Amino acid sequence: MKRTLLLTFSALMWLGVQAAAETTGDKDYQAGRWDPIHFKPAIEQATDEQCLECHREVLDKQVREQSLAGVKAAEALAWYQTVGTYQGDQETFHRRHLVTEYATQVMDLKCNTCHQGNDPRDEAGMSHAEGDPTLNHYRKHVDPNLCLKCHGQFPYQIMAVPGPWPEFGHVFQDNCLLCHVTFRTNRHQVNYLKPEAIEALGKQDADTCYGCHGGRSWYRISYPYARHPWPGMAEAVPDWAKGRPAQSEARFLVGIKQPQAPKQGDKP
Ligand code: HEC
Ligand code: HEC
Ligand code: HEC
Ligand code: HEC
Ligand code: HEC
Repeated sequence: MKRTLLLTFSALMWLGVQAAAETTGDKDYQAGRWDPIHFKPAIEQATDEQCLECHREVLDKQVREQSLAGVKAAEALAWYQTVGTYQGDQETFHRRHLVTEYATQVMDLKCNTCHQGNDPRDEAGMSHAEGDPTLNHYRKHVDPNLCLKCHGQFPYQIMAVPGPWPEFGHVFQDNCLLCHVTFRTNRHQVNYLKPEAIEALGKQDADTCYGCHGGRSWYRISYPYARHPWPGMAEAVPDWAKGRPAQSEARFLVGIKQPQAPKQGDKP
């Protein structure tokens, strides 16, 4: 049994190598690396299929069953993997955002949602304090502000929630919607999220909401979201919200139907 699996695996590997050789075809490594599809403006129109023609490995790769030090993936759970929505075996970063079941239920991320074009000339093997701060992608392939939107802290201070959600959630029946049927109800209308599915899952389990709003926070700050006007919104803007935009960035609105934004002060 094991042997058949191994053989099948080797055969697949070999096929993979063949496929890669075919799709890169006449293009050598340098031509691939400098392919204009990596840069603006072409990257903005690129489809996932086009990127995957050369980068299939970002979705095909699986994590090791066991680390070199002997830690079994199946037995190692990180703190953020205890959020209620976390399911299944350990997966790679790309797979967790693009192909796993939960990811495809609530999100619709594309390669170019995250990859905005990184010019290798803007990268450096050595970073230093006087590096050019205007180089957004300096040794990074992705603008971390995007990650912050789904991996920031839970800003309970602005919510009349007395402290961190895991401690005080029970006061609100472990239900974000207790308040969020009324506040900030015009939300998630962007092309990389699935707003209806998020609301449906959020009704069943607050961890759906908390997951992206504090439950797996890699940062010590929270994202200052655009404040979309909602029915019943008060005229006065709280201090913490001064200067916030009233709409998400234009590139996240491409391809979606914006619901008619209510005017400030409209009654629900
Ligand atoms: C014609 C083949 C080809 C296509 C199509 C292609 N790439 Fe690449 N890409 C390459 C090669 C070759 C490299 C260099 C790989 C290396 O150095 O390991 C590369 C490197 C990268 C890197 C790492 C950059 C760096 O400087 O280390 C990223 C990120 C990337 N590509 C993303 C994308 C995305 C997103 C798309 C679709 C918009 C895409 N690629 C389309 C061939 C391609
Ligand atoms: C959730 C955001 C996100 C999405 C969606 C995404 N990537 Fe990435 N990708 C990253 C990050 C972050 C890195 C690591 C960057 C670094 O090391 O500086 C990365 C690294 C890469 C690299 C460099 C090699 C590697 O594996 O580290 C390639 C190639 C790449 N991505 C291609 C793709 C392609 C093709 C897609 C679409 C199928 C895609 N990415 C979708 C965030 C994303
Ligand atoms: C649109 C929301 C969204 C964006 C943007 C996003 N993530 Fe995530 N990320 C998630 C969700 C949801 C999960 C959990 C998926 C699950 O539990 O199956 C996750 C999981 C992760 C994990 C854990 C993976 C694992 O298997 O344990 C890491 C690490 C991560 N994200 C880093 C990043 C980084 C870095 C970026 C920016 C390049 C980023 N994320 C952008 C929503 C997002
Ligand atoms: C006690 C009521 C209450 C509860 C419970 C509550 N919120 Fe809030 N939330 C608010 C209020 C009030 C605001 C600010 C409204 C405004 O913009 O004036 C807010 C704002 C937010 C914002 C926007 C933050 C920003 O900087 O723009 C997010 C995201 C959010 N809540 C998520 C959640 C999540 C997720 C939960 C559950 C884990 C939750 N809230 C539970 C009342 C609540
Ligand atoms: C997959 C990640 C994800 C999940 C799940 C999620 N959110 Fe969000 N949320 C986001 C992102 C990303 C934004 C910013 C979107 C934008 O730019 O308009 C956001 C924005 C918000 C805002 C600000 C609204 C505004 O004015 O634009 C509120 C409030 C909020 N979310 C509450 C919730 C609640 C309540 C739930 C559960 C029903 C939830 N979120 C589930 C990622 C998520």
